[in-house]
Amino acid sequence: MTQRRPGVALNVVMLGPPGAGKGTQAERFARTHGIPKISTGDILRDAVRSGTELGRAAKATMHAGRLVGDDVIIGIVGERLELPDTRPGFVLDGFPRTVPQAAALDSLMTGRGPLVIVEMVVPEEVLLRRLGARRICGSCGVNAPIEWITACGNCGGTLVHRTDDGEGIVGERLKVYHRETEPIVEFYSGRPTFRRIDGNQPPDAVTAAMDRAICEASAPAKEVRL
Ligand code: AP5
Repeated sequence: MTQRRPGVALNVVMLGPPGAGKGTQAERFARTHGIPKISTGDILRDAVRSGTELGRAAKATMHAGRLVGDDVIIGIVGERLELPDTRPGFVLDGFPRTVPQAAALDSLMTGRGPLVIVEMVVPEEVLLRRLGARRICGSCGVNAPIEWITACGNCGGTLVHRTDDGEGIVGERLKVYHRETEPIVEFYSGRPTFRRIDGNQPPDAVTAAMDRAICEASAPAKEVRL
């Protein structure tokens, strides 16, 4: 398992198309290493559920499978990274998603230590199958594992399909991914801390591959004292 070296931050970005498993793996990695998972999709869905101003503004865009504006998202992540729990590191799930977001993250990283970027690769037919089968809790939003039949194991809420997992919307999300997000793979791929892993394996095998990749990518990085 990746060991967080004392005094060195473990900053990770998860890249990959819808359904690649970013959220699943980010959750595991964050829990194992005691660092926060920051998911822009979760933040936006919470805002939609709570009916906040952000949620009301983002709802139609998300349900159409398009991206929320860069300024809004960069503002959300910038504020979140100011909180002290991110000093030992963080896992970003769903951000950055455009080149301007990636450039903004570089600015936010000044003085924070290395950024490890993990791209998860999964064939499109597998993504479509996963998203078609996914259910989430309608109350707390957590992804439902297969053993939860009708009710959420966390809060007892009803399991539902995610609104943007409908067939037509998934197609739009994949198009948006190819057009807006794939260019940031090129933005990052020349860096020594960029790694690509096979996301089309059982979840535990993906976790192990991710751990190896992050361990290897962060080993030679220059240490930044906290
Ligand atoms: P977001 O929530 O980020 O959605 P996404 O990127 O489309 O990703 P998903 O949550 O669909 O997939 P995932 O890769 O996390 O896979 P997961 O682990 O869930 O964004 C939603 C929307 O918010 C966007 O469309 C946009 O409108 C807006 N937004 C968010 N961030 C934004 C930003 N930065 N800028 C602008 N707009 C933004 O797994 C999927 C399923 O597969 C689950 O059922 C899971 O159990 C299963 N699974 C996972 N791994 C495996 C495995 N190894 N084998 C078998 N099944 C698996």
